[in-house]
Amino acid sequence: MARFFETEEHLALLDVKNESSLKLMMEDEARVSALQLYAEGLTVDASRSLMTAEEWTKLCALYEHTGVSAKLEAMFKGDKVNFTEKRAVGHAALRQGTPDNKFVVDGHDYAPDVAEVKGRIYKFAESVREGKYVGFTGKKLDTVVCIGIGGSYLGIEFVHEALRTYVPTSGQDPATGRKLRFLANVDPIDSRRALEGLCAETTLVVVASKTFTTAETMLNAKTVREWVLDHYKYTSKDEAGVIGKHFCAVSTNIPACKAFGIKEENIFGFWDWVGGRFSVCSSVGLVPLSLQYGEQVVEEFLGGCRAIDQHVYSNRDKPQTNLAALMALVSFYNASYKNLDCVAILPYCQSLLRFPAHIQQLLMESNGKKAVVAAEGYEAYPGATTERYSGEIYFGEPGTNGQHSFYQLVHQGRVVPCEFIGFTQSQNPVHIKDCPISHDELMSNFFAQPDALALGKTREQLQQENCPEELIPHKTFSGNRPSVCLLFDGALTPAAVGKLLALYEHRVAVEGFLWGINSFDQWGVELGKVLAKNVGAVLKQIREGVPQEKAQSNANLPLPTRKLLERYVAN
Ligand code: F6P
Repeated sequence: MARFFETEEHLALLDVKNESSLKLMMEDEARVSALQLYAEGLTVDASRSLMTAEEWTKLCALYEHTGVSAKLEAMFKGDKVNFTEKRAVGHAALRQGTPDNKFVVDGHDYAPDVAEVKGRIYKFAESVREGKYVGFTGKKLDTVVCIGIGGSYLGIEFVHEALRTYVPTSGQDPATGRKLRFLANVDPIDSRRALEGLCAETTLVVVASKTFTTAETMLNAKTVREWVLDHYKYTSKDEAGVIGKHFCAVSTNIPACKAFGIKEENIFGFWDWVGGRFSVCSSVGLVPLSLQYGEQVVEEFLGGCRAIDQHVYSNRDKPQTNLAALMALVSFYNASYKNLDCVAILPYCQSLLRFPAHIQQLLMESNGKKAVVAAEGYEAYPGATTERYSGEIYFGEPGTNGQHSFYQLVHQGRVVPCEFIGFTQSQNPVHIKDCPISHDELMSNFFAQPDALALGKTREQLQQENCPEELIPHKTFSGNRPSVCLLFDGALTPAAVGKLLALYEHRVAVEGFLWGINSFDQWGVELGKVLAKNVGAVLKQIREGVPQEKAQSNANLPLPTRKLLERYVAN
């Protein structure tokens, strides 16, 4: 397969023969110190990546050559780095992570606007939590159903799951007595699952959609509206009053929210410079998270994001000390130089069970692109004239569950760079008498797996263990399999969740800048949406009694689809 770019510098990089094995490289103290960075209570250890010390130096030079520092600066300051949609990219501004807490787009500083919306959200959430804002029949709203999909869902669910088992040092769980559910899939089974066992009178519905036009979210919002109205049908005919009390919205499309029947004071806006998958810290995440956990926890979470924003910004021209740059360069190197374009995200923390799903969207929707020669000012690679594909495939599961599932392939099948995430303490410390400390048991695996991948097991070692000759080929491990370890000081606190989120957000941006792509658009998801509308129109006509042949006559559907549709409507 062709390598990524073929400029002289890239070829020079490729010329470095990687003859050293990981085993040797892992004993090189200077290399390990260079690739094991510590900042903001977090260690990123990339010493088990396949890069030699020399290659690392060259990759840092490449970072400089491609102008990543200037692009990061442009992003943080509000320049329109999303050049295909002509938009700024401001997720750091949502947590006061920009320089001087200013985010100026087209001459307007949005920092005060961000603070104003956040203030409204906290006030609203507090009045719901305290039972001052109540449902239509005066009952406390102790349940939130959050309707949204993609970027308006995955990140919020990851943060919610991460915080669900967090108990502050005060010992008081801020979510006591409260429920938060999500409804994303247009599959009607999902609405049944989301609403199961809930009471409409005590439920507040949050419709989260940047555009307020997404087909899945709109149909789910209407389904839940029916569910709420159905509950009240014998007691009240005041539909507007019921919806006004039980629905709120998060969107950039305020007129569409109002047209849905949501009261102006229950609409929380944000701005077109917040991308869907980067919107966790906008109203999209802040409304449900504040309702569930309250202002203090959310502020701690935002503080964690801010710490990483500021770290990345102040180290923007120093990849050698920048955590996000290190992660991005390792990943870029694996995908573009080693053709290792699949990455496993392996948190050794059950609360991070939905983190891989969020990362899947964040990384794959952002960087799964064609690297065409980009718009003026963004020609990352002079001389790179051919189209190449960028991005990696992400998947993952918490450890140790993953070990008993797909790790076999990772150890002896294909080479899959792994990202291990661990914590020095547990959210739920347990020590059963005469047993190992539960967190130590978990973390022993966190420390062992990267070494097993890197060092493998040789024929000689197996012979020394008297392994039967015929089993030796099956029991040898090649080793030399790369991974990166993230080790957080302490437990998974709201601040640590914020750090993790922001670290991956900035790593996405840096990697995209290295590839010379626009990480902030998503044209690739449009075609499927258009075709689904086309099929939907055909199905609607068939359901209205129009014969299939006639209904599809203008739809230009291919033969296999026509045949499948025939089976679908016949059964
Ligand atoms: O289809 C992809 C996408 O556009 C995502 O980028 C976005 O996060 C999601 O759909 C939902 O969009 P919205 O928030 O506008 O409903």
